[in-house]
Amino acid sequence: MSLSNWIWTDDQQHFLTENSIVASFFESCAQLKIAFAILTSNGDLLVHNKAFSEIINRDLGWKALLKKEIFLMRSMKKEVALIEHQTKNDEKEQQFEILLKMQLAEEHTLFICQIEEITEAYNCESLILDMNYQLTQKIKEINQAQVKILNQEKLVGIGQLAAGVAHEINNPLGFVKSNFKMLDDYFREITKLLIRLKSEFSDFKKNCEEDDVTPSAKLFFEEIENYIEASDYKYILEDYEGLFQDTSVGLERVEKIVSGLRKFSRVDHMMSFTEFNINEGLEETLMIANNEIKYDAEVIKDMQYVPLTYAIAGEINQVLLNILINAVHAIKEKGKNFKGLIKVTTRSDEKYIYCEIMDNGMGIKTSDQEQIFMPFFTTKEVGLGTGLGMSIAYDIITNKHGGEISFISEYGLGTTFKIKIPIRKVDVDTVDEFMNI
Ligand SMILES: Nc1ncnc2c1ncn2[C@@H]1O[C@H](COP(=O)(O)OP(=O)(O)OP(=O)(O)O)[C@@H](O)[C@H]1O
Ligand SMILES: [Mg+2]
Repeated sequence: MSLSNWIWTDDQQHFLTENSIVASFFESCAQLKIAFAILTSNGDLLVHNKAFSEIINRDLGWKALLKKEIFLMRSMKKEVALIEHQTKNDEKEQQFEILLKMQLAEEHTLFICQIEEITEAYNCESLILDMNYQLTQKIKEINQAQVKILNQEKLVGIGQLAAGVAHEINNPLGFVKSNFKMLDDYFREITKLLIRLKSEFSDFKKNCEEDDVTPSAKLFFEEIENYIEASDYKYILEDYEGLFQDTSVGLERVEKIVSGLRKFSRVDHMMSFTEFNINEGLEETLMIANNEIKYDAEVIKDMQYVPLTYAIAGEINQVLLNILINAVHAIKEKGKNFKGLIKVTTRSDEKYIYCEIMDNGMGIKTSDQEQIFMPFFTTKEVGLGTGLGMSIAYDIITNKHGGEISFISEYGLGTTFKIKIPIRKVDVDTVDEFMNI
């Protein structure tokens, strides 16, 4: 009986030749390709097969590792341990699985150890995990692209509708505004005339009363006075000023909405691209918005050098203004004594210009976040917001400049809007030409 696949000491060899059953057991185990060994409670090797010695002789660390694991098992009173171990063989990573089992043999504690190389399975598993990760990323990207396309389609549809509505409202609005202005002027003239007539009448009546008045003239005066009294003219004169003012504000608001709709739907799309520096744009916009901001928030500027790009300066500035005004509104929502903060940051790399506007205002509820760029979505009170600001910003950045606009927000803590604009070094005249580049 050959026991050649085992590594024996002389004593062990002798014992085995004496005990044939044990010897035949070891002979069967020796055929296994799996590395197999029995270790003492100190982690010293008692017996092991050839496969085992082939593995552990490759690397000096094996014996120390087994000793350490056995020590741990004993101190934690663990009967079985399954350990993964990685080594390098000729610069190739190898992965092993070690199974250690405590075995009581009379008064001795022995440890049975089995080592199996699982490099292939391990590599397959990590390959599958990697592919799975990539697949999940791709699915995410596809989903995001789908949402983007859907949003764009919706925006295009709404844009066409908006263009129609804006056009239909714009024409009558023009003559309503100019007629209203004339009416206001006429009414002021008539009012002046009325006041003058009233005062002339009072003087005339007074003069006549001092002389002797005929009964018919007296009746005439009375009739006129009754007529004046019944006309409620005092109330009308007091009230009309407010009515005209409110109507004028209302008309301005309608005009603002129409102009917003026109911008949103790109009715006036002959806008030219010129050299644009976003830092300058931000400075100009902050100056314009200063009156809105200064009582409610401190502005921190963290602007680094950014290269010039070709952009529609007025439009980008409008985006910045819309974002800044929204930030102030969100800060105001936190109450009078709240210390508001707006931080503007600009950065760039060789392809893009990045701008971030952060505020510590009220933030946006998770349930509202999907709708921020939709036209007419507003959480502001009636009359305070048209809900067009961010949809216009989306159109300007993505459709007109081929950039991206996004935000992160936590309700109660604040919001950061992020804009990314590609650096264009070409001069183009219109948006359509730009989009064809
Ligand atoms: N920085 C911000 N913090 C909190 N909420 C914001 C912020 N920016 C935008 N929002 C939310 O997005 C909504 C839509 O903004 P958008 O600018 O489009 O419209 P609006 O500000 O309501 O009206 P307007 O058309 O007059 O700008 C706002 O009503 C508000 O709820
Ligand atoms: Mg707004």
